[in-house]
Amino acid sequence: MTHHHSGGHPAHHHGNDHAHHDRDHAYVDPADFFNERAREWDTPEKVAFTHQIAEAITETVPLDAQWRALEIGAGTGLLGSELAPRLAHVLLTDVSPGMLEVARERAATQDGRLDVQRWDLTKVPAAEPVDLVLASMVLHHVGDLDGLLANLRASLNPGGWVALVDLDPDPENRYHGEGFGGHHGIDRADLLAKLAALGFEELADRTAGQRTKAKDGVDYVHDIFLVTGHLPA
Ligand SMILES: C[S@@+](CC[C@H](N)C(=O)[O-])C[C@H]1O[C@@H](n2cnc3c(N)ncnc32)[C@H](O)[C@@H]1O
Repeated sequence: MTHHHSGGHPAHHHGNDHAHHDRDHAYVDPADFFNERAREWDTPEKVAFTHQIAEAITETVPLDAQWRALEIGAGTGLLGSELAPRLAHVLLTDVSPGMLEVARERAATQDGRLDVQRWDLTKVPAAEPVDLVLASMVLHHVGDLDGLLANLRASLNPGGWVALVDLDPDPENRYHGEGFGGHHGIDRADLLAKLAALGFEELADRTAGQRTKAKDGVDYVHDIFLVTGHLPA
């Protein structure tokens, strides 16, 4: 039995019915990886988790009905669409065509507040700056984190906010499959230091939710953080 660990602690033993979490042994391109999963992405657990995250953001960031927001790595658009009623507009972006397709279907059922665009923010900042940038469970997939954060900063209006949600450090790689090529979680203090160096203020972090994932027959509970801050007005 594995002991408690900062990078996910075991919940309970169970059978091998979660074997699908362990099957990714070879490296796959992130866009292909997520394409294959887009249609089965929005599980009830995922919807409940997103709701928790949206609540944490609402409690921490002074959302404004005039604000335009950009979500990076929006996936199927669950988070952006949940926050959209409190904002003027949310642009959902991702690099995975499969995810974008599901996000477009979701956007079509809403009242025009949501748009969807293929976009890799590690490459280019927003042409029109926004008031809020969101990213949930994306940073650990991005190789060039510094490039992404610099473009993120360049995509914000003066006074603009960031709300970044991600996995705490997972040194034993219990959250992802064996072939995972991204970061094994993100260190909050490192992220806060990078944001401070870019000029963000009122930086804060909190545990916003938890995700349970099975690996080798054990369920591990992982803390998920929310880091927030804003640029000077
Ligand atoms: C773990 S999923 C999270 C999706 C969604 N935010 C959620 O919480 O359900 C990570 C997402 O990041 C996207 N992604 C990975 N690298 C990216 C990049 N450089 N730019 C934009 N999106 C990226 C993937 O396509 C995928 O949809």
